[in-house]
Amino acid sequence: MEIQAFFDPDTFTLTYVVFDRDSGDAVVIDPVLDYDALASQTSTKSVDKVAAFVQEHALAVHYVLETHAHADHLSGAQSLRERLGAKIAIGTQIRAVQATFKDLLDLQHLAIDGSQFDRLLVDGEIVTAGTLQIETIATPGHTPACVTYRIGDDLFTGDALFMHDYGTGRCDFPRGSAEALYDSVSRLYALPEHLRVHPGHDYRPGGRPVAWETTIGRSRRDNVQLRGTTSKAEFVEMRTTRDRTLPAPRLLYPSIQVNVDAGRLPPVHANGRQYLTIPISEGPAPSLVDVEPTDVAARRGELTFIDVREPAEFTGELGHVPGAALVPLATLAERSRSWDPERPIVLVCRSGGRSAQAATELAKRGFRHLYNLRGGMMAWNEARLPIDRER
Ligand SMILES: [Fe+2]
Repeated sequence: MEIQAFFDPDTFTLTYVVFDRDSGDAVVIDPVLDYDALASQTSTKSVDKVAAFVQEHALAVHYVLETHAHADHLSGAQSLRERLGAKIAIGTQIRAVQATFKDLLDLQHLAIDGSQFDRLLVDGEIVTAGTLQIETIATPGHTPACVTYRIGDDLFTGDALFMHDYGTGRCDFPRGSAEALYDSVSRLYALPEHLRVHPGHDYRPGGRPVAWETTIGRSRRDNVQLRGTTSKAEFVEMRTTRDRTLPAPRLLYPSIQVNVDAGRLPPVHANGRQYLTIPISEGPAPSLVDVEPTDVAARRGELTFIDVREPAEFTGELGHVPGAALVPLATLAERSRSWDPERPIVLVCRSGGRSAQAATELAKRGFRHLYNLRGGMMAWNEARLPIDRER
């Protein structure tokens, strides 16, 4: 088995062709469709290189394997599907990502059942591509749908695990989770240390030459963000603090709406043209993060909990998060005037609806670190986390 890597300097993306020279069987991992945002123009320069390599070596590409729905470049999957007859596969959790972005970007054409992909892979599933066997390892965290592909002794880790001198993927996209990423990387670190790691990007820290190969052993020893000895609390603290400082990816909206649709460009309008949807937000972009009760419960000391329900609910059967402040939704605008917009705030209600509204309200007012407690106090109680009923 052999690997040919392609590097896109525009988005720091690594695309891999994995092939068996004898049989000619091949898969392509994470191909790129070039997109010039200013001209709003796509081009196939990157996939052309991949296709030329495939032709030159007379390879049969069975699958395009996506490690996740990328938020920083458009996928070249459709182009390779058309040209090479390859099928497109991705982790089955892509459906959760589709649902999130259908809502967020109002993508009415988007099916959220994963049907635009040829295969939805579950953890442990083996894909056969001629003489190649590809194992799917679910590695959520950067997004809930992220997977790592294992082919022999080679792991294609997408944005879960990068080169050891760069670290790990960010976890602040909708439904991302630093806790989940820690667990995912821990799973990878439990694999034999000679296995090779090939990341989805290389950001060339310190300006070093592009690199696309490290090992599990080296990562476990030397990864600058997450070593074998790093505790979950340490990692989550580092990851969430760092994520707060990262700007949104330049191609976030174009990428995500195309990639959740398996790399298809949006539907053609009556005038024959296609359009991308770009939402406008007032003020600085808020971080849109849904958080799980168990994840924030552990970090209660460093977060401010704002409960936007009515007083009777606050002291009612579901109770409230100990230490939470009661600020009914109707009073939020007034009360929040005196708050520090840099302070991380977790918004809480009964089931997660009003708190999402509150997050939008605060985002408009310039608050930058907002978390919505997914499932509200109902989920908090279900997780049997401590509550208070006193005012
Ligand atoms: Fe990514």
